[in-house]
Amino acid sequence: MPASATGIENPLAGNTSVLGNAKVLYVGNCSPCHGKRGKGDGPAAAALKIKPADHTSAKVQSMSDGSLYWMIATGHTPMPSYKTALTTKQKWELVNYIRTMANK
Ligand code: HEC
Repeated sequence: MPASATGIENPLAGNTSVLGNAKVLYVGNCSPCHGKRGKGDGPAAAALKIKPADHTSAKVQSMSDGSLYWMIATGHTPMPSYKTALTTKQKWELVNYIRTMANK
């Protein structure tokens, strides 16, 4: 990941009104691999050689919003790129949604 990705600013920072929409996007696009609760245990995960990231983990939660956004836009085999499949706004909504998955 390029260093410049870390500092990309989240235009929806702290916006919780997008979480309902984000959940629908997450369940439709991300849950097959990352699991409904983000644990990395979706139905498609078992067949993957590289395991999907656990979005509840300290590792993922310690990434900056910009880094999460960059990863969603760019992808990383076997994870697809969502550069064009999701709008910029939808990707930021997903960043905010991932923040709600932190282990409490
Ligand atoms: C085909 C399965 C698959 C789908 C679908 C998928 N991912 Fe991933 N994702 C992965 C895998 C596998 C990794 C780990 C890549 C690696 O470690 O190199 C990953 C990593 C990530 C990471 C980075 C975590 C890190 O440690 O760098 C984020 C953030 C992420 N995914 C978010 C999403 C979001 C949001 C969606 C839905 C829009 C999504 N992913 C859809 C498989 C998937």
